Amino acid sequence: MTVIVTGASGHLGRLVADALLESLDPADVVLVSRHPQALRDLAERGATVRHGDFDEPGSLTKAFEGGDRALVISTLAVGRRAAQHRAAIEAAAAAGVGHVVYTSFPNPVPGHPVGPIATEHGETEDLLKASGLDWTILRNATYAELQVMPGALAVAGGKLYTNAGSGLLVPVSRQDCAAAAATVLATDGHAGKTYDITGPEALSQDQLAEVLSEVSGRRVQVVSLSDRKLTWGLMRYGAAKPVARAIVAFGKAVREGYYSLVDPEVSELIGREPRTLRDVLIANRGELLASV
Ligand SMILES: NC(=O)c1ccc[n+]([C@@H]2O[C@H](COP(=O)([O-])OP(=O)(O)OC[C@H]3O[C@@H](n4cnc5c(N)ncnc54)[C@H](OP(=O)(O)O)[C@@H]3O)[C@@H](O)[C@H]2O)c1
Repeated sequence: MTVIVTGASGHLGRLVADALLESLDPADVVLVSRHPQALRDLAERGATVRHGDFDEPGSLTKAFEGGDRALVISTLAVGRRAAQHRAAIEAAAAAGVGHVVYTSFPNPVPGHPVGPIATEHGETEDLLKASGLDWTILRNATYAELQVMPGALAVAGGKLYTNAGSGLLVPVSRQDCAAAAATVLATDGHAGKTYDITGPEALSQDQLAEVLSEVSGRRVQVVSLSDRKLTWGLMRYGAAKPVARAIVAFGKAVREGYYSLVDPEVSELIGREPRTLRDVLIANRGELLASV
């Protein structure tokens, strides 16, 4: 069985490739990227590396050739992603790939506060389900690694400014998202399933501040702000308006419960307990303390 991974040079793509090269015969692993030269080390481990770009559908015919299962890693081009993902799904079907696995997002429903960042995933899920292919959807929760940079600012200033209220967040490590994807690609029984790939615990902002304090050794206090005050504060400290708005929309989504799900089945999928946020912050302690 030949397994294809798109976006293989990204953070998640490389981790999935690495896991597949451990669990499968490397001759059965095909890595597709816009930057095949960045995957030389994985080619040396026996993977086949091919060029493929969702913006150039012609490149995908060759990229997907001979594949049985493909992981389509969602892109970052918000506003254009549904079209990009459609191109990937259509090319996979045309090349005879039988099963497409897609990296989605928690609750990708209309009306989500983060807008197209979420809803384009919902559109792609619908496209995939209507494609006639076997499908599996991996709704990856917020990466725990994305808490390191804002965490470093909170550690440096001693204050965690937030509009998330009493909402809960369930950060998951990229490593665990990759392990889940590799399992779904390399083993049977996952067709027609949607998995929520979450971390092991739902954290309030107070709990987040506690973990930041514990790992950094510096006191971090929560400062709750309204959406308006947080937008204003972020812009006052140099954030561009779209960035400030995106951060505030994320906090609003946390407050409204869009990211609060914990799925205990992740441990079955990856064969161990998923990492906690604390584990990830400890692994990135240098970066967490970089601004102190
Ligand atoms: N769960 C979360 O918290 C979270 C947060 C941010 C993003 N995401 C989503 O998860 C994805 C993977 O995360 P990551 O951390 O690995 O992101 P990343 O390191 O920034 O990688 C971006 C990914 O998008 C691929 N890509 C971009 N444009 C493409 C195109 N035109 N055709 C094909 N592939 C394209 C890249 O592939 P190549 O460069 O190898 O071609 C790469 O795999 C992101 O792209 C995004 O959709 C999730």
